[in-house]
Amino acid sequence: MKNELIYQVEEYVQDTFAKGERNNNLLIGHDYKHVSRVRNWALQIAHGEGYTDILSVELAALLHDIALPYFQKQKKRSEHGGIGAEIAIKYLREKSNLSEKQINSITTAIKYHGASPSTVRAVLENDDNGGMLLKIVRDADMIDAVGAIGLMRAFTSKASLPEYDPLNIKGETWGLSSKQFDERFAKKLGIGNYLLDQINFQISYYDNLHTKTARNLATPLVDFMKLFVFQLEHEIVFQDTNNT
Ligand SMILES: [Fe+2]
Ligand SMILES: [Fe+2]
Repeated sequence: MKNELIYQVEEYVQDTFAKGERNNNLLIGHDYKHVSRVRNWALQIAHGEGYTDILSVELAALLHDIALPYFQKQKKRSEHGGIGAEIAIKYLREKSNLSEKQINSITTAIKYHGASPSTVRAVLENDDNGGMLLKIVRDADMIDAVGAIGLMRAFTSKASLPEYDPLNIKGETWGLSSKQFDERFAKKLGIGNYLLDQINFQISYYDNLHTKTARNLATPLVDFMKLFVFQLEHEIVFQDTNNT
């Protein structure tokens, strides 16, 4: 049976996202449906990893993007983890009977769910409890960027970009690891000029998954994404051959 607090938080998160949409804030690929999928992935990962504090898993997943609906277009959204953690601390202290320890682990997961891999490594090293909840929420959030959903999110978030380079369909970023993408960003090269580069970027998220369960869940989804790219190349090359 569902915990009463979960019902309350679901309603609170849904209302907050609905308000964000009404205010026309930028929520492409980050609506309540995303939150709901992340919750489902997080529960599967927790189960696979033998993590038993399921209430904290659900709360952290439901609240992980709670700050996003407050961010207006053009504003930097990189701070949404930190701001979201502050919102969640206030909410959970007011509305729940959770221990400070639980609130702390939930809000740490929210704060760092989208942080850089090096920041997260430092947080995990200093976490006496192993930072398992952070790993679970972060992995769940990343799995939602691969597979068919990942493709849809890439299409919608980068709709302004041309799809592919006809001379190099898989793109210059095909096969790059997460570390190689980080190097590109350090050199201010961005994801690349095409929508296909965004897909390649999302494929690289696999490298940053923390748990074995998440890697097992993500493997077929990442393979599907790669297959999509191969198929696209095949269709375009095939068509070209017929036209010559
Ligand atoms: Fe996020
Ligand atoms: Fe998210």
